[in-house]
Amino acid sequence: MNMLSGRVLITGASSGIGKALALEYLKSGWQVVACGRDKARLDAILEAHPRFACQLSTLTFNVSDRLACLEAASSLDGELDLIILNAGSCEYIDNPKVFDGKLFARVIETNLISVGFCLEAFLPALAAKGRLALMGSSAALLPLPRAEAYGASKAALAYLASTLRLHLAPDDIGVSLIEPGFVRTPLTDKNDFPMPGRIEVEDAARRIVHGLSRGKDRIQFPRRLLWPMRLLALLPGAVWGLIAKSNIRRQSA
Ligand SMILES: NC(=O)c1ccc[n+]([C@@H]2O[C@H](COP(=O)([O-])OP(=O)(O)OC[C@H]3O[C@@H](n4cnc5c(N)ncnc54)[C@H](OP(=O)(O)O)[C@@H]3O)[C@@H](O)[C@H]2O)c1
Repeated sequence: MNMLSGRVLITGASSGIGKALALEYLKSGWQVVACGRDKARLDAILEAHPRFACQLSTLTFNVSDRLACLEAASSLDGELDLIILNAGSCEYIDNPKVFDGKLFARVIETNLISVGFCLEAFLPALAAKGRLALMGSSAALLPLPRAEAYGASKAALAYLASTLRLHLAPDDIGVSLIEPGFVRTPLTDKNDFPMPGRIEVEDAARRIVHGLSRGKDRIQFPRRLLWPMRLLALLPGAVWGLIAKSNIRRQSA
C-alpha cells in the first residue's frame, strides 16, 4: 500500500473517530469514501471543508443491513487501497440478572454482524497489497463489568482480525486491529464513569493513521492505559476478579 496517496473507505465516518480519520486522510491527499447512515452529517464534512471536494465521496447506508451494504458497494467505482470498518455503538448491561437480550443483540449486530456484511460487500474492491482494518477496543483485553455486550463484540472482532490476517496473507492483503483506550467522542461523552487516560479524537486518528501506514497488525493506545491493562491481563484471573468485584460493590453501595 502506498501510504502517500490512495483510496480509503471508512465506515462510521459521520462522527467521532471515523470522522477524524476521514479528515486526517483528506489532509494527506487521499481519496476518501466516507460512510454513515445520516447523509446530512456526512455532507456536513464537505460543508465545513470545501477544499476537499475533489477527494471526498460519501455512501449512505446502514452497516447492519446486508443488502444495503451490497448495494453501496455496487455503486463504488474503482479499487480501494484501505478499508477501515469503524462503525459501532456501545450500550451497557446494567443488571446481568435481568439480562437485556435485545440490547445484547443490538450491540452484536452493529459491532460484529455488520462487519461480516461489509467484508462480503467491500473486500472484493480491495486492491492487491491493500489493507483491511477492524475497529476493536482495549475493552476486550479484560472482562469489564457492564461491558458484556460491547466487550463480547470487540473480543470477537479481535479473533476475526487474527484469523483473517492468516487467511488473507497469501493474497497479500494486510489486516490491522485497532484497539483504542478511551477517546473523546459522542460515544464516550455518554459514559457516566471515570475514563482514565481519555485522549482527544484528533490524537487518536493520527495514531491510527501512523500505525496503518507502518502496516502494524495491532494498533493499541494510549500506553498509560494499556500497560496496566496488559499487566492485569497477565495476572491470574482471580486478581482482576477481586479488583473488579470491589469496584462493583463500591458502585452499588
Ligand atoms: N470512543 C472511544 O473511546 C472508543 C474506544 C474504543 C473503540 N471505539 C470504537 O470506535 C468506533 C467509533 O466510535 P466513536 O467513539 O467514534 O463513536 P461515535 O462518535 O458514536 O461514531 C459512531 C459512528 O458509527 C456509525 N454507525 C453506528 N451505527 C451504524 C450503523 N448501524 N450503520 C452505519 N453506521 C453506523 C455512526 O454513524 P451514523 O450514526 O451517522 O450512522 C457514527 O459515524 C466504534 O466501533 C467504537 O466501538 C471507540
